[in-house]
Parts: sequence; C-alpha cells; structure tokens
Amino acid sequence: MEQQPVIPAGSEWTDKHIRDFCGSPVSRISDEWMLITCGNTADQKGLWNTMTASWGGLGVLWSKNVAFMFIRPTRFTFALANESQLFTLSFFDASYRRSLEICGAASGRDTDKAAQAGLKPIVFSDGSIAFQEAKEIIVCRKLYVHDFDPGQFLDPSIEGLYPVKDYHRMFIGEVLTLRVKEA
Ligand SMILES: Cc1cc2nc3c(=O)[nH]c(=O)nc-3n(C[C@H](O)[C@H](O)[C@H](O)COP(=O)(O)O)c2cc1C
Repeated sequence: MEQQPVIPAGSEWTDKHIRDFCGSPVSRISDEWMLITCGNTADQKGLWNTMTASWGGLGVLWSKNVAFMFIRPTRFTFALANESQLFTLSFFDASYRRSLEICGAASGRDTDKAAQAGLKPIVFSDGSIAFQEAKEIIVCRKLYVHDFDPGQFLDPSIEGLYPVKDYHRMFIGEVLTLRVKEA
C-alpha cells in the first residue's frame, strides 16, 4: 500500500511532562478518542500505520509514567505495534472527529487512510510518528505486552465482546514525553 510521505515535524511542538496532560484520561480517551500510530520511517519502505482507539489508559507502573493501549490481532496496526519500539497517542480537536472515524473504520492494509482522513504524518527526531493536525501527542517506549486470556475473565459479559475470539494484546509503554502544539 503506497502511503503519503512522512515529513519532519516542525518547530511548533513543545515537550512537556505527562502531568501537564489536561483533563480526565477517561474522558480524553473514551470521549475524544485518540490515534495510535506506530511503525518505521527509517528505511525506504517506511511502513507505518495508525488506528483509532477509545480504550486505553494512563497511569504509573514500575515507578514509571505509563500508557496502556489494547489492540486486537485482527488490526493491521497489530504487526507494526509488535515491530516498533515506540508508539504515539495523538489527540485532536473535535473538528477532526470525522478523521478519527475514518481511521477507525478503514484499514491501512488496503488504503492510505490518513490521506483519506486529511491527516499529514510527521516524524520527530526520536523516530516517533504522529500527525501535524494533532494538538497533543504522547510518545511511548514499549515496556511490556500481554495477550488477554479468556480463562481469566471474571465477568462473563466480557467474552461477548470477542465473537471471533480476537482477544486484545495489551501494550504498556513508558511515557517519554508529551508534545503539545503551541498556538
Ligand atoms: C471509536 C473507536 C475506538 C476503537 N478502539 C479500538 C481499540 O481500542 N482497540 C482496537 O483494537 N480497535 C479499536 N477500534 C477499531 C480500529 O480502529 C479499526 O478496526 C481500524 O480500522 C483498524 O485499522 P488497521 O487495520 O489499519 O489497524 C476502534 C474504532 C473506533 C471507531
């Protein structure tokens, strides 16, 4: 799948501490949604992908500030998340809701959905990939992965969320920085 080129990030981004991420993470993730982006732009193939997520979290683990994301193995993003050392979580103004709907419905397997969604991919000097149109970007380094074991579901209703048994893989990443776009 031919993707639009990833361009170097501009100087409008400021690195901040994750403590400066405003609002309840529950409403930020569940109501606003976010784009999970991962992949590699270091080689000429430049394979990377993005997908919408509304499940995830921010917290503290192993004395580190961490972010959690959950990806079903049926997603194209899954393989790229496994191969990448870094992933980003991008947050947008409400005016980009349609872009997030597109990235949560189309697959990077067969479409350049970021282009379709009107989003320009950018790469930072640390190799992390996100979008020029984002307002905040959380950059994470993978620390741990874990596949959900249906035998451990304590509430039987959870199994109903997996009609094709594509149980999520949980990715835990150390938050390296919060990038905020200065107006
Ligand atoms: C609001 C919303 C939230 C979503 N949250 C998740 C999620 O947390 N985990 C997941 O695996 N898929 C989630 N999805 C589904 C993926 O975004 C969707 O299947 C996407 O097309 C996968 O793209 P890909 O095949 O290019 O990876 C969500 C979709 C929407 C619209």
